[in-house]
Amino acid sequence: MKNILVTGGAGFIGSNFVIYMLDKYPDYNIIVYDKLTYAGNLDNLLEVSDEPRYRFVKGDICDATAVADAIKKYAVDTIVNFAAETHVDRSIMDPDAFVKTSVYGAYVLLEAARELGLERVHQISTDEVYGHIPAGYSSVETDPLVPRSPYAASKASADLMVNAYFVTYGLPVTMTRGSNNIGPYQYPEKVVPLFATNALDGEPLPVYGDGRQMREYQYVIDHCEAIDLVLHRGKLGEAYNIGTGEEMENLTMVEILLQALDKSPDLIRHVADRPGHDRRYSLDISKIRALGWQPRHTAEEAIIKTAHWYKDNEWWWRKIKSGEFKAYYQAQYGKRLAESG
Ligand code: NAD
Ligand code: TYD
Repeated sequence: MKNILVTGGAGFIGSNFVIYMLDKYPDYNIIVYDKLTYAGNLDNLLEVSDEPRYRFVKGDICDATAVADAIKKYAVDTIVNFAAETHVDRSIMDPDAFVKTSVYGAYVLLEAARELGLERVHQISTDEVYGHIPAGYSSVETDPLVPRSPYAASKASADLMVNAYFVTYGLPVTMTRGSNNIGPYQYPEKVVPLFATNALDGEPLPVYGDGRQMREYQYVIDHCEAIDLVLHRGKLGEAYNIGTGEEMENLTMVEILLQALDKSPDLIRHVADRPGHDRRYSLDISKIRALGWQPRHTAEEAIIKTAHWYKDNEWWWRKIKSGEFKAYYQAQYGKRLAESG
């Protein structure tokens, strides 16, 4: 492994992964291949922009010719695929791009890797492919995939195609299924950066339904370390869950966040719930632990660290929130907030 194509590397987790890998492996070259959708942002990669081992290619993973050109030009041997449409609420409003990028795009990458004989394709997946998990159980990697939102269904479809390429063609693949990531450079449509930036502006925090849904909030760099480990030590054809093993109700996350920012709980506003909202995700992480990984941050530490980053980095999020985001926010929350009184 030497020349890694990081698709979706200008997004939240992808950019953190690129920064982490360039720092950790002085002999690796990283080529970011990204369409720069609303969620892609070169500001995320500013801190490595002068690094000669980093290259950026603007392109769509659905474009087979452009993907093959990038692989040949940079002698790519490994693909790590972060590229996807990633927000559940947007997938409910319009699933089209989710199917195109996350399903067809993943197929294009697998096919390119097969044709060009790459050493590895690593697919970044999510705990959401397992669907809602009842209390008292945690998902293991061999569980059936029962996705319930268009986002989760698009990710599960990619997982199935990755597995098919392993079984049918012997393509060297690995896969990781992460829980909710938080940290620097997360587009402020996701709950933690949305709530942190709203709180900093004294705006209401729209909590869906009763706020008692459970998620495993993990620090993004912990997730990146686990992906790195699976890339180097994971077994081909296998999936690995990556989480904290520590689930938390959304309302608890909100309390910790408000306290970290010294803001009042009066900002909390319960609004109409998300349709088909999964109540609980919970990952059994024994398999990745057995490879020698463990999270460095508790969920609480991750939330506090993240809240402070948004407090200290207004340069990054203010321009996002003043752009296309405004129309999205109005469409997603305008009526809900008005109805919540
Ligand atoms: P993000 O939305 O911040 O970034 C996605 C990136 O993909 C953007 O840079 C975007 O420009 C790029 N992209 C979108 N469509 C593309 C296309 N057709 N061609 C090339 N690039 C394209 O997403 P994220 O939160 O960083 O998530 C990255 C990956 O991790 C996704 O596959 C997601 O499903 C998975 N994941 C995310 C989380 C989470 O909590 N955020 C948890 C588990 C798994
Ligand atoms: P989100 O960050 O969208 O991640 P996901 O749905 O993919 O897990 O949401 C995390 C949790 O926060 C989820 O239970 C939905 C909830 N949520 C709200 O209560 N209000 C919001 O405005 C958003 C975006 C999410």
